Amino acid sequence: MNKNSKNNELRGIYDNVMLPNYSPANFIPKEAKGSRIWDLDNKEYIDFGGGIAVNSLGHSHPSLIKALSDQSQKFWHLSNYLSNEPAINLAKQITDSTFAENVFLSNSGTEANEAAIKIARKYHSSKGDQRSELVSFKNSFHGRSLLNISLGSSEMHRNGFEPLMPGIKHGEFNNESDLEKLISNNTAAVIVEPVQGEAGVFKASNEFIKRLREECSKKGTLLIIDEVQSGVGRMGTLYGYMQYDIEPDIVTSAKGLGGGIPIGATLTTQSIGECMQPGTHGSTFGGNPMACAVANEVLNIVNNKDFLNDVLEKEKLFLSFLAEFQTKGVFSEIRSSGLWIGCDLIDKTSNEVLEQAYDAGLIMVSAGSNCLRLAPALNITNEEIEQGIDLLKEVLL
Ligand SMILES: Cc1ncc(COP(=O)(O)O)c(C=O)c1O
Repeated sequence: MNKNSKNNELRGIYDNVMLPNYSPANFIPKEAKGSRIWDLDNKEYIDFGGGIAVNSLGHSHPSLIKALSDQSQKFWHLSNYLSNEPAINLAKQITDSTFAENVFLSNSGTEANEAAIKIARKYHSSKGDQRSELVSFKNSFHGRSLLNISLGSSEMHRNGFEPLMPGIKHGEFNNESDLEKLISNNTAAVIVEPVQGEAGVFKASNEFIKRLREECSKKGTLLIIDEVQSGVGRMGTLYGYMQYDIEPDIVTSAKGLGGGIPIGATLTTQSIGECMQPGTHGSTFGGNPMACAVANEVLNIVNNKDFLNDVLEKEKLFLSFLAEFQTKGVFSEIRSSGLWIGCDLIDKTSNEVLEQAYDAGLIMVSAGSNCLRLAPALNITNEEIEQGIDLLKEVLL
């Protein structure tokens, strides 16, 4: 250990002053550009983690910096007593490009999901139908509020935080034969991810989503698609639901929408949204003009056919390189959906590999104890991909 390391000095303070709910790397980033990060000791890293699918356009993208700095000269916050141009433009862009007609803006995926469930319940109660049940799926992840850990099924996320929210049933993901029993006339909403990212990049099958839509429509249940991680180009389409032949009732978005600025959005139709009259729900910071100015620019860039096709080309490039790790017996399975890749390790833990990769100069994230998850910037260059793969070879081959 280098005693003069600026990383070590600050990391030591971290351990004393921060709640110990995370265990971050032992280096501290100083600066980042594109898919490269430099730490306080000037070491360079290739970023395959993308801030867990958040930095959709990499670090320090000039257009995002401009959007943020232009808005920062105008005003930062107004409150919901006043509307603002960036928020209106963002809602217009989202509704112009999706099934949605109404948007509620918030600050995170958790809040976007919270709003989705509240809208679903309010929708039914406004029709005199008090539905108490919700359905989600095993191995899903929807956030860390008490509602969202109740929707999710991770023991680690729930343990010690009980009592959880009652009335939630957890079905088997991708098992369409269960759906008829799972969803009843008392189910207010079903929430599902098109790809279970935290579980290790497992994509919902066409048949499953199609049957889910049919069963929800039959029972009058609202279908919520949680696109917090899958949305805004991650899967190679603007939203993941667009890869299925269905219309959702509610979609939640966050992470990549802000390209690194906190934002959440809950999208729905006007006939559902109209139950949310003034005073029913709100957020102090939701619709923040700085966040919305950046998100508008993210969508200007990502919501483009060529850009999205390029995401799929880069997925192919990644897969062509990663195949070698599978043939050499390092990964048992590789799953992908756009620039979102899960690699199951055979005889190492993900934490062990993440640490070794940091030493080599590569940043990744994990999904559970034996899956490496890659969710890089959607505009990562081919050169950055090749460089990162070379570092991964140093670690694993
Ligand atoms: C599918 C999904 N939903 C919800 C969330 C929670 O989002 P946030 O951490 O912004 O609250 C996440 C975060 O990883 C997610 O992947």
